[in-house]
Amino acid sequence: MKLIVTDDYEALSLAGAEIMAEVMAAKSDAAVLVATGDTPMGIYRELAARRAQGRLDASRLRIFQLDEYVGVPPQDERSLYGWMARSFVHPLGTPEASVVRLPWSANGLEASCRAYDQAVQSAGGFDLAVLGLGPNGHLGFNEPPCDAHAPTRAIDLTEASIESNASYWGGTHRVPHRAVTAGMAQLMAAHEILLVVSGAHKRDILRLTVSGPITPDVPSSFLQQAANVIVLADRAAWPS
Ligand code: PGA
Repeated sequence: MKLIVTDDYEALSLAGAEIMAEVMAAKSDAAVLVATGDTPMGIYRELAARRAQGRLDASRLRIFQLDEYVGVPPQDERSLYGWMARSFVHPLGTPEASVVRLPWSANGLEASCRAYDQAVQSAGGFDLAVLGLGPNGHLGFNEPPCDAHAPTRAIDLTEASIESNASYWGGTHRVPHRAVTAGMAQLMAAHEILLVVSGAHKRDILRLTVSGPITPDVPSSFLQQAANVIVLADRAAWPS
């Protein structure tokens, strides 16, 4: 695990964009898992700017969705697929057909999860997984307690996640209580993982992630055992 600490969020976004751009330059059809959430948005804006300047080509990228709310269709403003499409897929010019999506409908959900894991396997695993850090150590919606080998599946959200997601949609009453997440097993097997963490409110959970006990109660602590992890934090999150 490599820890990179930047002065502020802007520097974090530039550094994260550089890491993602390097992966794309080395392999134009890289399989990239893309998180939503507030933290990676600066990275995506920087990548979109580079693409607009003709400095980056993401047309052959294979994009994988990290998580989705169950029962929230793509046209709903809370759709996490919609958020990913608006912030990453469209601005980077990757065809939507190149996105491996998670199911949002409860119908046939289990079969769709197995198809997703099959697609990850066929891609040879993620070349890069870009992840944010939940207030309770969740990665995607791998909520605690979580097994390191957990597959892609549906899960009930914890209170901590419902509360942190409330800021996206205008209150806890607007946050669905059930979600689908790419499995911890699929995340752990990524060739490279970029965990982005910003803000003083992430200090305690970041410290537990990096140097606390490895435990199902803090799913992100499993990253201590993953192969190639970069933790990219700003100084507010890692004052050291
Ligand atoms: P955030 O979300 O980037 O909005 O802080 C991270 C998460 O909860 O996974």
